[in-house]
Amino acid sequence: MPLHMLQDKPNKPLAGVANVIAIAAGKGGVGKSTLTVNLAHALRKEGFSVGVLDADLYGPSIRRMLPEEQMPTQKGDKFYPALSSGIKTMSISFFRKNNESTAVRAPVANGVIQQFISQVDWGVLDYLLIDFPPGTGDIQLTLAQKGQILAALLITTPQEVAIMDVRKAAHLFEQVNIPILGIVENMSYYQPSPSLQPAYLFGRGGGERLAQELGVPFLGEIPIDPEICACGDAGRALYQSDLELSPLAERFQVLAKATVAHAMSLQRSEQKGLSSFELTWKEMP
Ligand SMILES: Nc1ncnc2c1ncn2[C@@H]1O[C@H](COP(=O)(O)OP(=O)(O)OP(=O)(O)O)[C@@H](O)[C@H]1O
Ligand SMILES: [Mg+2]
Repeated sequence: MPLHMLQDKPNKPLAGVANVIAIAAGKGGVGKSTLTVNLAHALRKEGFSVGVLDADLYGPSIRRMLPEEQMPTQKGDKFYPALSSGIKTMSISFFRKNNESTAVRAPVANGVIQQFISQVDWGVLDYLLIDFPPGTGDIQLTLAQKGQILAALLITTPQEVAIMDVRKAAHLFEQVNIPILGIVENMSYYQPSPSLQPAYLFGRGGGERLAQELGVPFLGEIPIDPEICACGDAGRALYQSDLELSPLAERFQVLAKATVAHAMSLQRSEQKGLSSFELTWKEMP
């Protein structure tokens, strides 16, 4: 049955997921899917259970970058995610033939996103990463309002034209009271070998300045590296050896640790809000 024809029956959506993190930019092509996938691998390596929801209906990349060993299944109105290297995944590409587009109008696309939120049973997960589509439109707003997102991790490239759009994404999350977990700058520089100086091809410090402007943590730079692209294309993790991490994989590991630390502190402040409410609760006269 086509996904969009199933009834939308919310049944405690995302009940078993501890932390839902949006990976967003507003801008296309800056590395949202790449960051999502590498962060998912890195969080797995930290010992967490991880899922990835590919919310990009018009240009889904996750199935390519995280090829499944096990296909998703359906039982009644519930969908059970696919499995790739121990990471649970869900994407529109499981419901389309190879190279078939999802040429649907916005209301239908929005319905599919709502079904992803309400009908996918992720089981128990520490982290669900949502790979946002580019832009700040209807789908992004639905995800922000209904996806029970703890925080958004924003990714940018150094150019002002990219940063302009990331500012808009930050504004969207601000409108729905979702905190920004931090800013990551991708494609910051190119360094062909460790003995050569890094070349800041697109300018320097744009991501960090944006983080300062928004008053959110700057989580670091990711260089342009052909290996990142090759891994994404081949659906292979940067983590080839369990014993020794490459400097590139180490970057994502550091990012994963920062994500966990910030997510934990956000969870704590949410719980604090809850307990102070309970403490001040009085019986009404
Ligand atoms: N640091 C990097 N070094 C080299 N290549 C990279 C890097 N980051 C991303 N890429 C490559 O750039 C391309 C775009 O990245 P990606 O698909 O992750 O961007 P995106 O923001 O998800 O794009 P879209 O808006 O289309 O969803 C991919 O081919 C990816 O492999
Ligand atoms: Mg993408």
